[in-house]
Amino acid sequence: MINIGLLGCGTVGSGIVKLLRKNAELISRRSGDDIVIKRVLERDREKCPELGLKPEMITQNWADIRDDAEIDIVVELIGGIEPAFQFVTEAMKQGKHVVSANKDLIAVKGRELFDTARENGVDFYFEASVAGGIPIVYPMKQSLAGNEVNEVIGILNGTTNYILTKMSREQSDFSEVLAEAQQLGYAEADPTSDVEGLDAARKIAILSSIAFNSRVTLDDVYVEGITSITAEDIKYGAELGYVIKLLAIAKQDDKGRIQVRVHPAFLPNNHPLAAVNDAFNAVFVHGDAVGEIMHYGRGAGQMPTASAVAGDIIEITRNIKNNNIARIGCTCYEEKTVLDINQLSAEYYIRMTVKDRPGVLAAIAGVLGNHNVSLATVLQKGRGENDAELVMITHEVMEKDLRDSLKVLEGMDIVRAINNVIRMEGTNRTE
Ligand code: NDP
Ligand code: HSE
Repeated sequence: MINIGLLGCGTVGSGIVKLLRKNAELISRRSGDDIVIKRVLERDREKCPELGLKPEMITQNWADIRDDAEIDIVVELIGGIEPAFQFVTEAMKQGKHVVSANKDLIAVKGRELFDTARENGVDFYFEASVAGGIPIVYPMKQSLAGNEVNEVIGILNGTTNYILTKMSREQSDFSEVLAEAQQLGYAEADPTSDVEGLDAARKIAILSSIAFNSRVTLDDVYVEGITSITAEDIKYGAELGYVIKLLAIAKQDDKGRIQVRVHPAFLPNNHPLAAVNDAFNAVFVHGDAVGEIMHYGRGAGQMPTASAVAGDIIEITRNIKNNNIARIGCTCYEEKTVLDINQLSAEYYIRMTVKDRPGVLAAIAGVLGNHNVSLATVLQKGRGENDAELVMITHEVMEKDLRDSLKVLEGMDIVRAINNVIRMEGTNRTE
């Protein structure tokens, strides 16, 4: 029998209790042993009886799990960095294997956790920490291990994808749809880490570490959220054949330097990620042998996330049964340079309000040209009494050049406002 010590019986913790019970027989046959929840660390005792857990299984004292020599696997589902980091570290030091869904913890403390797992000869699995129920961590470490991966692009946050999808379909404004997402229970009560891009940044830090074999932490990720996106931007983008998504992007150049960023981006309508709507997640990977692949599904929610946690528990059980533990450990054995956002080369959408009089467009194009910013498309949109709105798409230019040119434009009296600048992605796809 394999005994589990479960930390946290909230949304995902309850899900794993239910799933291990519902599919007990098939899980036992697939893993080669019975998997039993022995103890549960939970502050709120009221949550547990509803799940059929006996009162004597519940504890508020972590040491009851840590010091129980019969517990083989600790499943950490309390979230946050502390005390989760302490619990996971101490569990490994006691020779216990660990499963965690905690992206906050892994994106910041991944290196220390892997070192501790290696030193103590235990397994550390964390499939649910990125994109909930979608299998991506394990496939990247195993099924795609024969590839040089040079691109991983994800829609990794369900809340923001729901908001942008709704804004696109209904031409509504951000704040309206955010309130709706909160009412429907998609967004957190405090949705800051969703809408400011931090949740997606944690997930792409984890994925890029695996893809490029180099430790990427949250601090290495350039992050912009979706709060500045307006219905106008979405409408103008749509007229030009683009859809807006909050993308988590990790790329490696031919010199082995990497770029990891989260920001809203316009994608061409025919890009596979453009069709990922509502609260769904997807991860698009390009490998030199496999070409393009896309993993799609539910990136959050009780049972989808429990599905990923159960897969990890089963895999560790197989490893224990076959005396084959610590088979796939940390894959970050290189130290790659992470490029600054100013070194990005991309196409950009720019929306600005300018004075509506002869010579203005020529003056703006002149400033952009002086900074090596070349324009592919210019449209005049709204027209006020004395003002006009311009929408421009650039050719591929350096971010630094664009930023320098915008600084000059901001200081010119013909430019009333630079309303938005949005990067374009996936415009050069050849497959
Ligand atoms: P919840 O808040 O629903 O559950 C966490 C549970 O752990 C709560 O019952 C909480 O109790 C309890 N808890 C927290 N700290 C302690 C502690 N020190 N001692 C005892 N109990 C504690 O979170 P979720 O289930 O949603 O998330 C769990 C993990 O899974 C997180 O890392 C999250 O990022 C990750 N995840 C969640 C997904 C989802 O869809 N929900 C998707 C993918 C990953 P209390 O409420 O009293 O604080
Ligand atoms: N808040 C996250 C999302 C779910 O909206 O995708 C857990 O990662």
